[in-house]
Amino acid sequence: MKLRIVNLGVTFSAPGGPVHALRGVSFGTRDREFLCIAGPSGCGKTTLLRVVAGLQKPSEGQVERLPSAADRNPQVLLVSQERNLFPWMTVLDNAAFGLEMQGVPRRERRDRARSLLARLGFEGREEAWPHELSLGMKQRVAVARCFLSDPAVMLMDEPFAALDCLRRMELQQELLRLWDESHKTVLFVTHDIEEAILLGDRVLVLGGSPSHMLTEFRVPFDRPRSPALTFTAEFLDLKKSIAAALGMPILRGMTAG
Ligand SMILES: Nc1ncnc2c1ncn2[C@@H]1O[C@H](COP(=O)(O)OP(=O)(O)O)[C@@H](O)[C@H]1O
Ligand SMILES: [Mg+2]
Repeated sequence: MKLRIVNLGVTFSAPGGPVHALRGVSFGTRDREFLCIAGPSGCGKTTLLRVVAGLQKPSEGQVERLPSAADRNPQVLLVSQERNLFPWMTVLDNAAFGLEMQGVPRRERRDRARSLLARLGFEGREEAWPHELSLGMKQRVAVARCFLSDPAVMLMDEPFAALDCLRRMELQQELLRLWDESHKTVLFVTHDIEEAILLGDRVLVLGGSPSHMLTEFRVPFDRPRSPALTFTAEFLDLKKSIAAALGMPILRGMTAG
């Protein structure tokens, strides 16, 4: 599936007057693309994904879903920053939930969930409860559920933002490995420029007031991508260019390259 977002605007009414969260946002995903949207906190990333997921009505514009023949499951699924799991279900049942919704028989869905969870370090812990897990482990289960559901588009709202740097790096690599096997269309938003470059085929930059698309960058690096990439000169050059597009004041006087 491809997405086309046309002239999207979202205005919230708040006690102090209307808040224009997004205005005139237009972009498209390509089929099977990993598209990242980078922007500072408060620039409307969550709002944008909620609109694309159909959880929030836009004030202007529209989201078009353009299905492709290869879509097995036409769903558009959202993985949030936290609280993705049902607290009354075990890790295994949480991971298998999407398959349950699709009517996959209990035995088969549990086998499939067990085997993906094992790859993500859950061997022997499939019957744990969400409250027994670290946030990193919870987010792994959420990612596992999303990949098992195999939706036509995956929406990811800073799923690793609350993790420390090492856990974040591990989960990024796990996500990249899973994505390399499936190449589903992903729309991933993050305030972290480095994360956007490491994961994405393209990075769109969201910012300004009211928030809109400022510019876009193609990410030229081959896959698979490892954390070592983030220390190369080419990577840092791109990071500087994106930081400059975001108008980061710390970079004043610094030249790209
Ligand atoms: N339900 C709401 N009512 C009023 N204002 C909101 C609501 N949701 C978000 N906002 C405002 O919209 C802007 C964008 O928020 P959000 O999409 O959460 O940004 P981000 O995810 O990039 O941090 C912020 O100014 C936020 O305060
Ligand atoms: Mg947000």
